[in-house]
Amino acid sequence: MRLNSPKLNLIYKACMKASKSLIRDFGEVEKLQVSSKGPGDFVSSADKRTEKIIINELLNAQPDYGILSEEAGVINEKNKSNRWIIDPIDGTSNFLNGIPHFSISIGYEENNEIKCGLIFDPIKNELFFAEKGNGAFMNNSRIRVSKKKSLKNSILATGGPKFNSKKKNLILEEYVEISKKIDTPIRKFGSASLDIVNVACGRFDGFWQRELNYWDIAAAEIILKESGGYIENFELQEKDLNKKNIIASNSLIHTDLLSLITKKNIV
Ligand code: IPD
Ligand code: CA
Ligand code: CA
Repeated sequence: MRLNSPKLNLIYKACMKASKSLIRDFGEVEKLQVSSKGPGDFVSSADKRTEKIIINELLNAQPDYGILSEEAGVINEKNKSNRWIIDPIDGTSNFLNGIPHFSISIGYEENNEIKCGLIFDPIKNELFFAEKGNGAFMNNSRIRVSKKKSLKNSILATGGPKFNSKKKNLILEEYVEISKKIDTPIRKFGSASLDIVNVACGRFDGFWQRELNYWDIAAAEIILKESGGYIENFELQEKDLNKKNIIASNSLIHTDLLSLITKKNIV
């Protein structure tokens, strides 16, 4: 494993420490699922527990670095040049329901650019990571995007719409539109970070989703870029910088996919 960069090494250690607790908690969720109380409250505390371990490790090593994390929000707000972007559990609904498909995602941003990132699926034991200029890896192997050129034969994934989305109709229309253009039905796995790294390692050819948050995609962005893929935040008129409309692809099908999504240009 080529985790020889100090930044990657640090996030790797934080992630591994947190994942031990997360795996234990996932075991509990499976038990709670059959109880009448259900796992709801327990999951939000598992989320916070995981996040706390990661944040403590990172702050111990770099006390003045900024942090943007889904549950804890912003820490060390003044430092905008060096920031960790954290999603302690990406795929919470899966986790909550005992579905073994979720990740820990940690990215490092320097002067508004993601420099390295790591995404760990603790159940499948798949560790994806990359640093700018050094390629992307899954466990011990270098990963590359697929070589598929035709959208028709592509495997695509998406997510959403969220229950409170104001763009529900648009998002569902896009889904129907794209479904008509491809042979294999669209995949929906419920973890945007894992969807994007699945494009990075060639399992999927493309992914798109509106209304994601920065922490869903920060680490995945560098992993995809370093594997030869292309990631784009479309319809940039969104005022909140943390909100993202994302297309991530093997780069060869990118234009075709983008043209279907932005066709109606409804905002
Ligand atoms: C969610 C997952 C899901 C996506 C949602 C995200 P969370 O993140 O990435 O795949 O469809 O939009 O909010 O809530 O599980 O961290
Ligand atoms: Ca997320
Ligand atoms: Ca989350």
